Amino acid sequence: MMLRLARHSALHSAAALRVAPRALLSTKVETRLFIDGKFVDGVEKKAFATVNPATEEVIAHVSEATEKDVDLAVAAARRAFNHNAPWRTMPSSRRRDLMLKLASLIERDSKELARIESMDNGKPFAENGKVYGATADFHLVVQCLRYYAGHADKITGTTIPVDSQQLVYTIREPVGVCAAIIPWNFPALMLAWKLGPALATGCTIVVKTSEKTPLTALKIAHLINEAGFPPGVVNILSGFGQSAGKALAMHGDVDKVAFTGSTAVGHMIEEYAAKSNLKRVTLELGGKSPMIVFDDANIEQALQASHAGLFLNHGQCCCAGSRLYVQSGIYDEFVKRSAQLAEKRVVGDPMDHKTEQGPLVDKIQFEKVLGFIETGKKEGAKVLAGGGRVGKKGYYVAPTVFVDAKDSSTIAKEEIFGPVLTIFKFDTEDEVVERANRSIFGLAAGVCSRDVGRCLRVASRLRAGTVWVNTYNSFDAAQPFGGFKQSGHGRELGAAGLDNYTELKTVVIPMDKV
Ligand code: NAI
Ligand code: MG
Repeated sequence: MMLRLARHSALHSAAALRVAPRALLSTKVETRLFIDGKFVDGVEKKAFATVNPATEEVIAHVSEATEKDVDLAVAAARRAFNHNAPWRTMPSSRRRDLMLKLASLIERDSKELARIESMDNGKPFAENGKVYGATADFHLVVQCLRYYAGHADKITGTTIPVDSQQLVYTIREPVGVCAAIIPWNFPALMLAWKLGPALATGCTIVVKTSEKTPLTALKIAHLINEAGFPPGVVNILSGFGQSAGKALAMHGDVDKVAFTGSTAVGHMIEEYAAKSNLKRVTLELGGKSPMIVFDDANIEQALQASHAGLFLNHGQCCCAGSRLYVQSGIYDEFVKRSAQLAEKRVVGDPMDHKTEQGPLVDKIQFEKVLGFIETGKKEGAKVLAGGGRVGKKGYYVAPTVFVDAKDSSTIAKEEIFGPVLTIFKFDTEDEVVERANRSIFGLAAGVCSRDVGRCLRVASRLRAGTVWVNTYNSFDAAQPFGGFKQSGHGRELGAAGLDNYTELKTVVIPMDKV
């Protein structure tokens, strides 16, 4: 079934919302499952609705994968991984070229893809590059695929000196059939983070997209065929976590699962792997990342970095700098200006080019974030900006700034995953490092100071997978990303991202005369 989409941009009544009532999106989107190079209905013919969070209207009904479809997709991926299948026998330079072709096709269609992403997820379309949004996501998607295409023909082992007269060398082989379970906050980008290393290493893959944002991956499936990938190398399933996601993570013929999402589900994925076939697991989970601003920081730079560090993508980032620690000497001034920046943030229609923040992804997330805001107030924190919803339609939440929250309070400890910043005061370096590290998470952290020695010292003391200094949320495909502690394990991006998609094989050959 091909569906023609017309974008309904309802008028919001609230004056605070910027709205451009234009029918901007008119495109064709595939709604079926992508298995073995073909679009097919689910075996059980189920479907579910995906909603535009700006209008609360249904965009499309998409096929829902059940366990039976998971079996079919895994079988297709296994066939494509057979040692004599085209994907396995082609030279690695051909794999590289296919990936480069896919990247170019995505680049060609990136405007259309960004519009669909914006509509399905609520993030700004933001074509002009001044605001971070769907358009920027697709630049990163293309960069990621090109980066990993460059690795495809450069995956090597080593030769190893041993005590005996033997030649010992290692080979990095593809781990096999991979499963990817991805979230909704960066739907296409998280797809690229999984496809890049899987395809570069010669694996095959079954992806389950988030039930909140299934559309762009299906559009990319078309491009995978257009690029000329053999059938079954990439399979894309729309569906829910409890059914399709669980079936994939429990599957006995899946060699590796890569999961991005909540820490709660991360625990389950690990359990599914343990209960089934001990498939390899990599997890990129939640966070409660600290951003630390010292008295001697460049204030403008620190204000911008900490503001973008939290509010980028409406706070729906695993690495969001949601705990902002400001040193006492500049605290009052910094808090005032930080709240002003939040108040000024433009909330509204994702298609309006001035919009910096659209709606949250769906009603569940919207209610969850509003719930955290109410809990924050009840537990005694003070609201300096925002503090509730914006408008009456669409899942808009005002950019919110809290102060005076206790370290032990809910909003100081739990991942909110919304536009809610909490600012804390601190006095000394030792104190702030200790408070920053007192978390079950360890995904990212930030430090702002003009003292280079202090930046290096604090960066080394923070227990986090990425530390940004005098900046935040700065990404590159070459830069490894992942968590300490309960923020996950394994790294994505960079050469390190390849490790999880390969098995290391050791070959031993005697050189003695016989
Ligand atoms: P989630 O962790 O439930 O969903 C992420 C993915 O996992 C989706 O594809 C979902 O269908 C799948 N999933 C859910 N339950 C599963 C199961 N039992 N087995 C296999 N797959 C399963 O996240 P959700 O519900 O969308 O958001 C809840 C919270 O999770 C957010 O409020 C946020 O705090 C956090 N989150 C963190 C993300 C990150 O990037 N670290 C991304 C998305 C959500
Ligand atoms: Mg949606």
